[in-house]
Amino acid sequence: SPLTQQLDELNKFQVIAHRGASGHAPESTLPAYELAHQWGVDYLELDAQLSADGEVVLFHDGTLERTSNGEGHIHDHTLAELKALDTGSWFHDAHPERTEADYSGTQILTLDELFDHFGHTTRYYIETKSPDLNPGLEEALVQRLEAYNMVEQGRVLVQSFDQESLLKVRALNPDIPLIQLLWYSPSEQDSATLTEWNNTTPGANAIRDEDFKRIAEYAVGVGTNAIYQGQPVIDAAFIHQSQSNGLPVHVYTVNEQDEMERLMALGVNGLFTDYPDRLLELINE
Ligand code: G3P
Ligand code: CA
Repeated sequence: SPLTQQLDELNKFQVIAHRGASGHAPESTLPAYELAHQWGVDYLELDAQLSADGEVVLFHDGTLERTSNGEGHIHDHTLAELKALDTGSWFHDAHPERTEADYSGTQILTLDELFDHFGHTTRYYIETKSPDLNPGLEEALVQRLEAYNMVEQGRVLVQSFDQESLLKVRALNPDIPLIQLLWYSPSEQDSATLTEWNNTTPGANAIRDEDFKRIAEYAVGVGTNAIYQGQPVIDAAFIHQSQSNGLPVHVYTVNEQDEMERLMALGVNGLFTDYPDRLLELINE
């Protein structure tokens, strides 16, 4: 089935466009996803949140200020209010050198709009973002995935830092493949994201085998940070430990080609990048 095929392909290397081609166009907007899709990435990555009136929308930050002309939390605004915002102009102010295109006035995207635009022609790597700020997000998301037939067509992965959120998604639809996001901080004792993560032994191998085994009970892979406090933390031992527990490793967010090459040589199963063009150039070399 298409779902089985998707799960098989997780053993191959996956190019994941982080918030679209967000190095080249404003993150989480249609222009950023169009560029990534046109370049032929494997997955469009997105952060899902919920409007006050229950629409799933694409937005990364907990608050509107950085990437729009609005204020406050997504969930305090109706879709009509969110749609009135400009999520493009900030990009030109922040990165005037990155593009000659004009993205000012670009609107917040709903998940339905993204699905209507690309349908089953790509795959979607969907994060349940800030579940505490967006009560009801999992129910709304699963409903949209089912309405668009995304799961059985092998078109979606659902990712979260929040284990409870992933377990909610699983309870709603056990067929949805899940990715546990991790914040790997080997030198710190208390900052791992999984609440039951017993990261009390400092050092590069602080994550215990039983932690991976517990994740493997509900997830098909992990997504983890490349860098901690300016230092690369993902090494061959981490990758081997995860993979030997049946969990492919996707690493975020990798934008420089030398770091892409280093991680690919270590055998990671995919990279999240704001510059999928740079990654595809290496792969197609
Ligand atoms: O979803 C993987 C990566 O995107 C997690 O970090 O903050 O960019 O959502 P963030
Ligand atoms: Ca994300």
